[in-house]
Amino acid sequence: MLKRTHHCGELRLEHDTQTVVVSGWVNSYRDHGNLVFVDLRDRNGLVQLVFDPEADSECHKTARNLRCEWVIAAKGIVRPRGEGLENPKLATGQIEILVTELQVLNTSKTPPFEIDAAEQVNEELRLQYRYIDLRRMDMLDKLSVRHRVTKIVRDYYDENGFWEIETPMLGKSTPEGARDFLVPSRLCQGAFYALPQSPQLFKQILMVANTDKYFQIVRCFRDEDPRADRQAEFTQIDVEMSFVDADDVMSMNEGVIRRVFKEILDVDIPNPVPRISYQQAVDEYGIDRPDMRFEMKLKDISDIAKESTFKVFTSTVEKGGIVKGLCAPGGAKYSRSDIEKTLTAFVGEYGAKGLAWMKIEKNEQGHVVPKSSISKFFNDEQLAQLLERFDANEGDLILLVADKPDAANKALAPLRVRLGRELELFDPNEFKFVWVVDFPLFEWNEDQKRYDSLHHPFTCPVEEDMGKLETDPANICSQAYDMVVNGSEIGGGSVRIHNPQVQAKVFDLLNISKKQAEDRFGFFLKALEYGAPPHGGIAFGLDRLVMLLTGTENIRDVIAFPKTQRGQCLMTNAPSDVDQAQLDELNLRVQKHLHQIEGDA
Ligand code: AMO
Ligand code: AMP
Repeated sequence: MLKRTHHCGELRLEHDTQTVVVSGWVNSYRDHGNLVFVDLRDRNGLVQLVFDPEADSECHKTARNLRCEWVIAAKGIVRPRGEGLENPKLATGQIEILVTELQVLNTSKTPPFEIDAAEQVNEELRLQYRYIDLRRMDMLDKLSVRHRVTKIVRDYYDENGFWEIETPMLGKSTPEGARDFLVPSRLCQGAFYALPQSPQLFKQILMVANTDKYFQIVRCFRDEDPRADRQAEFTQIDVEMSFVDADDVMSMNEGVIRRVFKEILDVDIPNPVPRISYQQAVDEYGIDRPDMRFEMKLKDISDIAKESTFKVFTSTVEKGGIVKGLCAPGGAKYSRSDIEKTLTAFVGEYGAKGLAWMKIEKNEQGHVVPKSSISKFFNDEQLAQLLERFDANEGDLILLVADKPDAANKALAPLRVRLGRELELFDPNEFKFVWVVDFPLFEWNEDQKRYDSLHHPFTCPVEEDMGKLETDPANICSQAYDMVVNGSEIGGGSVRIHNPQVQAKVFDLLNISKKQAEDRFGFFLKALEYGAPPHGGIAFGLDRLVMLLTGTENIRDVIAFPKTQRGQCLMTNAPSDVDQAQLDELNLRVQKHLHQIEGDA
């Protein structure tokens, strides 16, 4: 085989007259009879090969039979392209290689889709033929960014005294709030391992074991429905540190994100990253992961609305609900049907029962007035108060939702983001980082009549709220923090409980009985009794980080071999049936085959 001397994408005018060997895949070919042109592709890029019968007639003959995605090696002389034939779109567009020796290393069936047109191909086909899909430069670039991020991360933590320590994949269930993937044991029949939802308990135990500073780039498994930014199998940058407070953890770990953004995108992240309290985020943005690239904050107008004569508003407020909304600058350009059909249906998807609106326009006298289906229910003074509350100007659009506070926020938060995008209120290339802090420790679960952890059960209350564990659990502030970028949660963590009695009390409040706590976390509670140091940590979602860095909204694009919405790998057809012999060995019996592998139908 001809030995490669250069990558396709690296050849330039400075290589003029040099003899080189390149190898790769035929991206395209053009047969002009006397001359054959081939664009050859490898991981680094494309280069043009020229086959001229005058240079080598044998080569030229073989070249005429080449087809897309055949694998070849070519030896030849680099030369400048002819006058006017340069391709400014290509890094190697100034040169071409006049081939003198050609080896066909492998042929290829006609690919199921054209690589250059893959964007238009349905994703299922791309996932079935992932090895062809990944040949696209765009996909390779994403894998390359992912590789570079993990390299920067490892260097950063290493320089700061962290050790990368592996934790088991076959383990015991850790509660991160999702369903576990279970693995049956052959040696202990009837018993199951759980794949880790995160290494949470192991990393805490590593602190008890005096490893002091731990990190791991680690696969986590959560059996929940995949979404655009969620996979059942994903990767965390997982970190834990001893003898630290929340500020220490935040400053150390925003450092790694700062370095990643600087090195990959040359973007400077403010130092320190600003913080916002959970309460402020929910009040002003309706959500605990606010997109802070633009203002358009939500405002509660219940006090004004309850004085109106609009029944929907007054009765909502009477029942303990709120009337809340936003003022979209320039939003008056939405037509009545845009608002009453499109936007109302949009908030409806998030559970809103309606969307009241007011366009701010000037009347014949030149006064700024609201035009709306509901302004007749407000007197002049109330209208003036509304305009003032929203700081509304001519051309703006006020949108209001009346509901229980959580429900109103749930609808308004995505509406805010949608309008922000549609009205171009932010630069899509900008990054706005924020730490969300001061989360409540618990939220009340009305259905189950018990508390749930807002993060996870190992999160420590702030020192001054410890006493409230006994008296007022609903109002305990935790030492948890989330890192949010442009409305996406890329990481979260906390200072942990290191006192076994406090941990037991928290389990108790979560309605986890002593017996359950012992069965599930006994090993962990025991470890806390043997000199657990104060400790805290965080985990970043590597996939989400790479999505931001590569500007993609599809998590599957940053994972080499991702799963579909139904958790299937279309290339290997996993999950699949197993042999009866395997089941017998595990002493398992499948009661009913309900699955249908996509494509089987
Ligand atoms: P948490 O559950 O918040 O915390 O996860 C940390 C980060 O991991 C990413 N992430 C996901 N990414 C893709 N697909 C998913 N299904 C998925 N789930 C989570 C998010 C998230 O911010 N043990 C704690 C961390 C700690 O307290 O130290 C934990 O796992 O970006
Ligand atoms: P209706 O009285 O049902 O015709 O509604 C009048 C206007 O109030 C319409 O624009 C509705 O979308 C809106 N509306 C109805 N219910 C709500 C609600 N819960 N919150 C906000 N607006 C609402």
